[in-house]
Amino acid sequence: MHELANELNTALKGTIVDDMFSAVGRRMFFPKGIVAQSAEAKKKATRFNATIGMATTEGKPMHLSDVYSQFAENSLTPGQIFAYAPGGGDPELRELWKTEMLKKNPSLQGKEFSLPIVTSGLTHGLSMLAQLFFEEGDTLVVPDLAWDNYELIFAHQVNATIRTFPFYTEEGAFNVDGLRETLSAIPEKKARILLNFPNNPTGFTPSKDEMKRIQEVLVQLAEEGMRLMVISDDAYFGLFFEEETEKESLFSFLCDAHENIFAIKADAATKEEMVWGFRIGFVTYGGKALNAGHYEALNKKTLGIIRSTVSNCDRPGQSLVLKAMRDGKKYHSDKASAFDEMQRRYHTIAKVLKKYEGSDLLKPYPFNSGYFMAFKCKGSAEVLRKYLLDTYQIGCINIADTTLRLAYCSVECDKIEELVDMVYQAAGEAWN
Ligand SMILES: Cc1ncc(COP(=O)(O)O)c(C=O)c1O
Repeated sequence: MHELANELNTALKGTIVDDMFSAVGRRMFFPKGIVAQSAEAKKKATRFNATIGMATTEGKPMHLSDVYSQFAENSLTPGQIFAYAPGGGDPELRELWKTEMLKKNPSLQGKEFSLPIVTSGLTHGLSMLAQLFFEEGDTLVVPDLAWDNYELIFAHQVNATIRTFPFYTEEGAFNVDGLRETLSAIPEKKARILLNFPNNPTGFTPSKDEMKRIQEVLVQLAEEGMRLMVISDDAYFGLFFEEETEKESLFSFLCDAHENIFAIKADAATKEEMVWGFRIGFVTYGGKALNAGHYEALNKKTLGIIRSTVSNCDRPGQSLVLKAMRDGKKYHSDKASAFDEMQRRYHTIAKVLKKYEGSDLLKPYPFNSGYFMAFKCKGSAEVLRKYLLDTYQIGCINIADTTLRLAYCSVECDKIEELVDMVYQAAGEAWN
């Protein structure tokens, strides 16, 4: 074990984080190598800075003018576009993301949690968490309707055992009892959980009451001695379209809930700031018994895993998002109009689906948020998907041959009725 990893492990000894580390997590550290030495030199090397592998002239990164000229004049400096980003991400962006997180999640006020660390998109954040905290055979609990990439990340990459529970109750609420029963049945009294709201593929977020019950159930299990790591995948955060829906992240209710709960928020600019191709995500840690020293050690472990995977995250994207969030004149109004449009599409599809209420071909799962809605299919979802594509040139997603997902976020409002009508018509034809 490297001496620096030992130091971090000692700093975290006896905490819930210590309980959750994988062997990789234990071995991980941020080396005092090129990146750390360059950061030190940046502050002190006023004469010559011969540390980093980046070609510079007159103190700025060299660059192709054909690339630089694509940016508006006087918008970003060459350093803000072409240079490597600081380890862990642009400090100002990290602070601003935290400030915004507090505004969006008022329950976080006064709670101590880590400074978000920049990842190369949310998927990269999840993949790093898999490596840091999952050992072969460790249990991951997720609802049976979940983003398909979880399987690749957690089952196939780190060989975790995925246990699922039915997402909904008979009444169409979030199945809190199913979550509790699945967790209670785990003999090791230790589990990792991944919940994603607004959910992909269902477009569902629990109500305020349901979210409170999730928190209560997890705290009760923690009280009984179960050690829990709860990852909140907040990819679609903010797209909540109904009054009774919970508008805060589960992370807000767990990050100081119990000594036996380790809460992690994985979120991203990807959808929240509508910069899908930029690849900017964040990972934030919280736990009742964790203090600033623990968070620093944890972030250093995370920096180590970033350094050893992608080394550095997208620089121009970070500069652009920071500038828009901090100085943008239309930032709030653009976001508000995108939200309004998504909400309009949501109401439109919800209204159109009422026409088909009695149909047993396709039964929509309850939805109230995000980008998607999904149907429980009477026949093969793959047959229907192919039929829609070949006969009507309509693309949708089949999940496990039982569920058909519509990303209504990418269909104009005035086309939604036609889309839904054709999906039902095709189901009647494809499964006859
Ligand atoms: C639930 C969920 N989590 C994570 C992601 C990935 O986000 P990113 O593109 O930032 O990696 C997605 C994207 O489709 C998603 O649906």
